[in-house]
Amino acid sequence: MNILVAGMGFAGRAIAAALARDGHGVWGLNRLGTDAPEGARAVAGDVLLPETLRGLSPLPPMDLLVSALSGTGHKDPELYRRVYVEGPARVADALTWSSRRCIWFLGSTGVYGAEDGEWVDENTPANPRHRAGEVQLAAEAALRDAADAHCVLRLSGLYGPGRTRLIRQALRKRPYFKPDIWANQIHRDDVAGVVAALARREARAPELLLVSDDRPAPRREIFDWVRRETGCPEGLYDEDHPARAGRNRGNKRVSNRKLRELDLPLRYPDYARGLRELLPWVSTHGPK
Ligand SMILES: NC(=O)c1ccc[n+]([C@@H]2O[C@H](COP(=O)([O-])OP(=O)(O)OC[C@H]3O[C@@H](n4cnc5c(N)ncnc54)[C@H](OP(=O)(O)O)[C@@H]3O)[C@@H](O)[C@H]2O)c1
Repeated sequence: MNILVAGMGFAGRAIAAALARDGHGVWGLNRLGTDAPEGARAVAGDVLLPETLRGLSPLPPMDLLVSALSGTGHKDPELYRRVYVEGPARVADALTWSSRRCIWFLGSTGVYGAEDGEWVDENTPANPRHRAGEVQLAAEAALRDAADAHCVLRLSGLYGPGRTRLIRQALRKRPYFKPDIWANQIHRDDVAGVVAALARREARAPELLLVSDDRPAPRREIFDWVRRETGCPEGLYDEDHPARAGRNRGNKRVSNRKLRELDLPLRYPDYARGLRELLPWVSTHGPK
């Protein structure tokens, strides 16, 4: 297949690399036309400036667009919104297509407004309680309009080399207020593996898929594990801090049952497998 991956950031680069390893023709888009991994060709374009996307029309007809764009680099909330909501359609309009417009979108489990640790799956109604989740939901709706075939991959917390937020939180010296909130994570390489596996299949990708590892875990469990593994004394948890009384935004458990039913591969099925490999990385580079 010919595939354009829009967004050459943390997830996009890994996805482009995995697709290129599988022998697809892969192009990687970001604003400067940089950062495409080995095997993929870099192409420049800013999704907020449609005239800069003209360079996409001479590319061979595409079979698939994977949107791994993120608005987080844009401080202006309106630009942030437009990258997600308008970005994939703008890129799709600038491409030539071999047949139907097939677009896969990296979304977020932040569209669920859960606060009580309940399980969420593909059948759970999305009810975002914060702006980022609302933008993600609007982006999903725009995608359905822009594509003839689409797949929304709602990712839980992305981590991997260079993205080690839970390790950083575990190792901090100040007490942690809400250690009992559930953490749901997915390793960057597993996101890439899932996308590549779906691209290998003849069958159409599902319209909605939650992408998370097998085992949500309370933060306290992960923090204690990290501190044991790194030889640190036990972490501090301020059970009485006034901040504990606030809402537990995003406190949910993300089910990956559908992903597993589709027999999609996970190299890092739980936090211990994923974080263990990152501990040496953190001791060299420091937690990020
Ligand atoms: N991070 C998480 O924990 C998380 C969790 C759940 C879901 N997700 C989803 O996963 C996706 C990818 O996240 P990520 O962390 O891999 O993103 P990232 O590392 O921040 O990369 C974002 C990419 O988008 C590109 N981009 C931004 N604005 C652009 C514009 N106007 N025109 C063209 N390209 C533009 C950036 O290009 P430049 O190099 O030009 O800046 C960059 O390559 C996002 O959709 C996000 O919602 C992330």
